[in-house]
Amino acid sequence: MLSTRLLVNGLMLLGTAAAGNCSPSSHPKPCVPDTTYNSSVLRWEWSPNPGPLSNGDVGKYLRVSSGVDIWYTTMGPAHSKHTPVLILHGGIGNSNQMYNQANMLAETRLVILQDTRGQGRSPYENFTGFHYDDFTRDAIELLDHLEIPRVSVLGWSDGAITGLDLAMNYTSRIDRVFAHGANNQADMSNPGTNDPIINSESGSLESDHSTNGTTYSTKADKKRKRDGCKSYDCEGLSPLPDRCDAMSDGVSYMWSTEPTWGPEAMAKIKCPVWIVDGDHDGAIERNQPDAMAAWIPYAGQLILPQVGHPALLEDPTFFNFAVKYFMDMSYDGVYPMY
Ligand SMILES: *[C@@H]1O[C@H](CO)[C@@H](O)[C@H](O)[C@H]1NC(C)=O
Ligand SMILES: *[C@@H]1O[C@H](CO)[C@@H](O)[C@H](O)[C@H]1NC(C)=O
Ligand SMILES: *[C@@H]1O[C@H](CO)[C@@H](O)[C@H](O)[C@H]1NC(C)=O
Ligand SMILES: *[C@@H]1O[C@H](CO)[C@@H](O)[C@H](O)[C@H]1NC(C)=O
Repeated sequence: MLSTRLLVNGLMLLGTAAAGNCSPSSHPKPCVPDTTYNSSVLRWEWSPNPGPLSNGDVGKYLRVSSGVDIWYTTMGPAHSKHTPVLILHGGIGNSNQMYNQANMLAETRLVILQDTRGQGRSPYENFTGFHYDDFTRDAIELLDHLEIPRVSVLGWSDGAITGLDLAMNYTSRIDRVFAHGANNQADMSNPGTNDPIINSESGSLESDHSTNGTTYSTKADKKRKRDGCKSYDCEGLSPLPDRCDAMSDGVSYMWSTEPTWGPEAMAKIKCPVWIVDGDHDGAIERNQPDAMAAWIPYAGQLILPQVGHPALLEDPTFFNFAVKYFMDMSYDGVYPMY
């Protein structure tokens, strides 16, 4: 399920998707990935279904040292001239959200995906409370288990935040990070009016972007609809579907309290980073990517046109081009300018 974060009067609210009309206990509706954009719908209000990984969604479990089981899978050639890519999905999601990027990258290089602890196929048991630092340590344990010394990271939303956490704290393990739809402060009014680009009182523009909007509106995601496809949500994937509501509550609580990173944290990042966001992302205030792109040394910023928080599902052609361009850029390891 794709849920959205909406900042209303400083409170983080969880916008839950419309309830589906199919349930795993009766007749699960097969999840048909949406591949054709219908231009009668605004692209940033479209919420396409996830789809299958090209390896048939076959994965394994790793029990990390804290006793938590993490589902993971690897795809693509084990040996290639490219650095392997670790793909990290968004909150209350699963690896299939990233299928367009995983399938493309796996044509030429090793790709590793994990379902974040408690989410997707990873059961919510043997821990309480969700924290980005735990997601980060889980990812390192997975890479250790797979004996992969160094990866590039592609992350969406919570996965992008985890990618930045990795880059801050495991410098030698992370080659570069493509961070789409991340925030650095749970309270996105911070850094607020200091935003170098959107210098309005609320830290965002309330434009009517259906007619004149070029950028962010907090209203963007409210019109989203889901078709109730269950194949690729927690209820459809988790070994413990009864825990999906508790997981959703736990992740939402995390969103209200983490992360709380300022310039000092961002300055710890030494690898090449692109801070990426949709120009109509209704979940992330524009001040967040602007601040991170300003604070991470040598970071690049990419604002994708006419897409929202799920840009990677809404416009995979453009998104995949950007991912591949970034991943394939040469970098001499000295100056993160390339
Ligand atoms: C596009 O969406 C509109 C409005 O929902 C619908 O009437 C139309 O049939 C759709 N077109 C296609 C090709 O699916
Ligand atoms: C995980 O939790 C389950 C259910 O409470 C329990 O049976 C199992 O022993 C726990 N596993 C570990 C490794 O602690
Ligand atoms: C990574 O660094 C940040 C900023 O110093 C810190 O808040 C966080 O706890 C660190 N995470 C891990 C997993 O060590
Ligand atoms: C954008 O459109 C809205 C409503 O159509 C209008 O009120 C507003 O002034 C416009 N903003 C700009 C910057 O043109």
